[in-house]
Amino acid sequence: MMQRALELAAQGVGQVSPGPLVGTVIVDANGEIAGEGFYLYDQIKHAETVALERAGDKARGGTAYVSLEPHAHQGRTPPCTDTLIKAGIKRVVAPIEDPNPKVSGRGFAHLREAGVEVQTGVMTEEASRLNESYIHFMRTGRPFVHLKMAASLDGKVATVNGDSRWITGEQARARVHELRHRSDAIMIGGRTARSDDPLLTDRSGQKRRRPLVRVVIEQYLRISPESQLAQTTDAGPVLIFACDDPDPDELNSLQSRGVEVVAQGSALDLASVLEELGQRSIQSVLVEGGPFLAGLMLEAGLVNKVTFFVAPMIIGGQDAPSAIGGAGAEKIADALQLAQVEVSQHGRDVEITGYPAGYAGVSPASSTGAENALDKQARRLRTE
Ligand SMILES: NC(=O)c1ccc[n+]([C@@H]2O[C@H](COP(=O)([O-])OP(=O)(O)OC[C@H]3O[C@@H](n4cnc5c(N)ncnc54)[C@H](OP(=O)(O)O)[C@@H]3O)[C@@H](O)[C@H]2O)c1
Repeated sequence: MMQRALELAAQGVGQVSPGPLVGTVIVDANGEIAGEGFYLYDQIKHAETVALERAGDKARGGTAYVSLEPHAHQGRTPPCTDTLIKAGIKRVVAPIEDPNPKVSGRGFAHLREAGVEVQTGVMTEEASRLNESYIHFMRTGRPFVHLKMAASLDGKVATVNGDSRWITGEQARARVHELRHRSDAIMIGGRTARSDDPLLTDRSGQKRRRPLVRVVIEQYLRISPESQLAQTTDAGPVLIFACDDPDPDELNSLQSRGVEVVAQGSALDLASVLEELGQRSIQSVLVEGGPFLAGLMLEAGLVNKVTFFVAPMIIGGQDAPSAIGGAGAEKIADALQLAQVEVSQHGRDVEITGYPAGYAGVSPASSTGAENALDKQARRLRTE
């Protein structure tokens, strides 16, 4: 039942941020499913309420499987704990506490005080993984950073002349749109913006509540006002973080196209860029390179999750850029290791995803091997 609640929660992907993904299954006193629901931010109603409405009287004496602790405070909606208690629910099973300080532990306490049996600790790893962006954002106030790169077998991201399209095939690129769909913002370095002139939109074909915010990190403001980014600000915000004193003509022409430029002092500080994005309620950022920006982010310890798409091709060339810049490790023993590694294939390309070892957001336990709820949902949509 908890597996089902997590799958329901995943149906809200792209439509809940800055809130969490939540799914609920109501099981009646005879053990039959009486109602199901998941949270969508714009519907205002929480997953518990949707499922209880569907269950009606059958909820009385039943069990609610909820993928996250129900809240006990008056927010945009009345407390879900009240709704569960009023509906006569006898037992609530929820894997994890909601890290939102307004909720954390209080929802469970309220249910227990009302005589409802509360069981926690079921599928905690899967539930934490499903809401990893929300949990990180709630704990730190900064967006969860997912770094994604595409490289050849020899680790190159472009040829010696800077040609980089396309290293991976259509299926891997469609998968990237799924990753974009899960993110509130996408971030690239200025050199990638200038050389590739990307559009950086979510072309997953799935509904999203807020437009994907496109972020460029550039020391000196040099991105062209004729670039695809600057010309498509009606499709979603474009935000450039640059150092102080940008060229006034360049600034004016970008601003007149609707681009927002955030001046960052004499040196760019990526941690404060993330702070600023957090203040704008951006819960997750997909960093899509290039190598220079990826190196800076990794060396600053700002990356929470890493995905590489590896294509079965060899680009070669001593001077062709490889995926990660910066100083790099001096010894293999110092190389950044990934934990909870998952491998999948998209056409001819291989996707490898993991979490920088030591990142506090994930437990060191190895992956369960089960397909996570978000990937299962993406696969379901792909085959529909
Ligand atoms: N295969 C892939 O997955 C992939 C992905 C993305 C890009 N690429 C390829 O990678 C190449 C470009 O990548 P790149 O590594 O050269 O550049 P990049 O990471 O795209 O851009 C680096 C940016 O960082 C800025 N910067 C410089 N110093 C900084 C500092 N101290 N703090 C913060 N930012 C700073 C630079 O500003 P200034 O420009 O003002 O100096 C520059 O715009 C292109 O060939 C592109 O096609 C491949």
